[in-house]
Amino acid sequence: MNMFNRSAAFVFGASLFLGSAAAQAGGTVEVLHWWTSGGEAKAVGELKKTFEAQGGKWIDSPIAGGGGDAAMTALRARVMAGDPPTAVQLKGPGIQEWAKEGALNDVDDVAKKENWDAVLPPALAGIMKYDGKYVAAPVNIHRVDWFWANPQVLAKVGASMPTTWEEFNATADKLKAAGITPLAHGGQPWQDATVFEVVVLGVGGPDFFQKALVELDEKALTSDTMVKSFDQLRKLRGYVDPSFSGRDWNLATAMVMNGEAGFQIMGDWAKGEFLAAGKRPGTDFLCAPAPGNGYILNSDSFTFFKVSGADRLEGQKVLASEIMSPAFQETFNLAKGSIPARIDVPMDKFDSCAVKSHDDLAAAIAANSLVPSMAHEMAIPRTIRGEFLDAVTNFFNSDMSSADAVKALVEGVKRAQR
Ligand code: BGC
Repeated sequence: MNMFNRSAAFVFGASLFLGSAAAQAGGTVEVLHWWTSGGEAKAVGELKKTFEAQGGKWIDSPIAGGGGDAAMTALRARVMAGDPPTAVQLKGPGIQEWAKEGALNDVDDVAKKENWDAVLPPALAGIMKYDGKYVAAPVNIHRVDWFWANPQVLAKVGASMPTTWEEFNATADKLKAAGITPLAHGGQPWQDATVFEVVVLGVGGPDFFQKALVELDEKALTSDTMVKSFDQLRKLRGYVDPSFSGRDWNLATAMVMNGEAGFQIMGDWAKGEFLAAGKRPGTDFLCAPAPGNGYILNSDSFTFFKVSGADRLEGQKVLASEIMSPAFQETFNLAKGSIPARIDVPMDKFDSCAVKSHDDLAAAIAANSLVPSMAHEMAIPRTIRGEFLDAVTNFFNSDMSSADAVKALVEGVKRAQR
């Protein structure tokens, strides 16, 4: 069953204000993560600070590479070598896969004491649990379907934020004619897949997204709507600059900041970059949900691996408790660009993009239009996601037709399911 059962009745906005239990001092954690860009490093620095304030020892194990593909490879090698890190940035079905392999410790005693069930959206809580016990703690909720733009650049062609793909294309054409790169993009498979899923939401809507990218329904995957999605991706390919290949996502964000490009299509970790560079929403940069009337959900969490020894076990408990404390959830998410995973953290210190994300999330839950991110490992197993990334990247970097891309995608998905 898809863990993101969209009819799950989770209640947003309940004000419970349960403080976390006082954390015990001490413990050691080695934390494997991929937060190395400006905004990301600032955010993970908050976690380190919070943990160390409890007397704990933090060993940092960053593995650079947006989207976390390199980190996941490193993780497998560490587990195979019998030397797993204490806590790992990991999410979605990946948590369940590692739990099934017997690779995780649970922190259920902390979760029970602090009543995590009462302060997390049930759909998110479900992902953090294996066999009814918490094996991971969520730090945030990221939205994937965003347009980011430079208002000064848009003003040069008399454009405002687009609300449909037609408007986006029209503005992009004007920017191109004015000699400005319309779309800042980094040609890495996970970034291609991020843009692709945002396009699928916009072209097909949330129900189609759910059928095609989450349920892997063959009719949806082979439909005209999927062909049209690839057509729009082909259009976007025409809006990137010649040096897009291999570029890191944060460098693409910098292109928007510096006025070298009009737009970036990226999750709201991009906002963490703008903020870390001292830019303000509304004046220095604009955010707007991409078309589609949905909400593509991505949530980061730390998963606790099977380590032993009192010091490391203590470290896991203290880290779990700190991650879930309301004060940390506020500070961390103010830096990261995301919103708190806890439903009871006040939003008054957050900017307009975060408030929009928070309100749209509640609306998407009510309208059944919340969908989990395929590109960011919230929806489908890694092996199948890998087939999506291959098909999308091959399409983006060739002159393959949309029909052939659909064929390649369906074959790939079938292969991975065998
Ligand atoms: C993670 C974000 C991260 C981004 C870029 C996403 O998959 O959820 O936390 O900032 O990748 O590295």
